[in-house]
Amino acid sequence: MSSVSFRKLEKNYGALKIVKGIDLEIADREFVVLVGPSGCGKSTTLRMLAGLESISGGEIRIGDRVVNKLPPRERDIAMVFQDYALYPHKTVYENMAFSLKVRGVPASEIKPRIAQAAEMLGIEQLLERKPSQLSGGQRQRVAMGRAIVRRPQVFLFDEPLSNLDAKLRGQVRTEIKRLHQAIGTTIIYVTHDQVEAMTLADRIVILKGGEIEQVGTPDEVYNNPASVFVGGFIGSPAMNFAKGTIRGGQIAFDGGAQLPVTANAAGKATALEGRDVVVGIRPEHFVSSAEGQTLAGRVQVVEPLGSDTLIHFALGQATLTARVAPEMRPQPGETLSIGVDPSRIHLFDAATERALS
Ligand SMILES: Nc1ncnc2c1ncn2[C@@H]1O[C@H](COP(=O)(O)OP(=O)(O)OP(=O)(O)O)[C@@H](O)[C@H]1O
Ligand SMILES: [Mg+2]
Repeated sequence: MSSVSFRKLEKNYGALKIVKGIDLEIADREFVVLVGPSGCGKSTTLRMLAGLESISGGEIRIGDRVVNKLPPRERDIAMVFQDYALYPHKTVYENMAFSLKVRGVPASEIKPRIAQAAEMLGIEQLLERKPSQLSGGQRQRVAMGRAIVRRPQVFLFDEPLSNLDAKLRGQVRTEIKRLHQAIGTTIIYVTHDQVEAMTLADRIVILKGGEIEQVGTPDEVYNNPASVFVGGFIGSPAMNFAKGTIRGGQIAFDGGAQLPVTANAAGKATALEGRDVVVGIRPEHFVSSAEGQTLAGRVQVVEPLGSDTLIHFALGQATLTARVAPEMRPQPGETLSIGVDPSRIHLFDAATERALS
């Protein structure tokens, strides 16, 4: 078990700056998820930690050892990749045993370690099969088993579920969480799926263009997104955004609608007078028009989901999505009158897109 720390970590490819000075302290036993859009530097960061990629600047520590120049096998890290990278001609057992043999673990210890990991992952029946005789989910479990038997200081997962169908993804996700609860090893997990990030993480690190945009617990990044980017990235369906200006204690939306901001934070409205803002409202924070401050807009599309209904409606130039009770079924073209819980309104500066607080 071990802590991990990045200090001013950088990666350049020629003149191209890919990772731009990341500072992050990860505690022993912590489950940290790196999320961000494609190309933001997630895999590069993991690969630098694993020693598969050189670093261009800064420092990486595992425990209290600086590992900047240490070869991968001396870092005591196990990595699970998206494509599993199993040896096709070896059985499941041999796949799991291989790295232990290479490291000189005695045969008498290899067997019980594999038996224990196989039991934990429910793959005892598969040990004599070849990877081609396994389903995607089973291969994924074998790849995890191969990492677990190593008993490393840190596990790295790079999008381990992205090759699985939606249902299996949910199942294996739960298994990974259970696994972490059972063995307690530090895990750094990369995904671009915000649901995986929210469900698995002790802390989420949101990356954008090689820089950290926000670090926080799932609740913190959901409730207090530091920027428009984070607000739009975390939460599903995504947070709604509409432009407006603060005038006389109200948000005056481009297009005419008004909402008071005073309930959100006393004194805020006066401090913000005249500011151009981006207003963020999550689909699940619309309420019945009797309860909140009301907005009116023309219904465009209605999507019944069984558990609830999504209503897409126009507000000025913006299209907003509201998640409402399943029995609410307005017709397209109707005018929808819907409430907003004022304490759940997010305000961002229109120019910097950073949260106003
Ligand atoms: N060897 C290389 N030479 C030049 N650029 C590279 C190299 N490897 C990666 N990159 C670039 O670095 C950036 C970050 O890549 P990285 O693989 O870390 O992204 P990612 O966040 O893992 O994205 P994804 O979600 O698509 O896996 C990308 O723009 C990529 O094109
Ligand atoms: Mg990647």
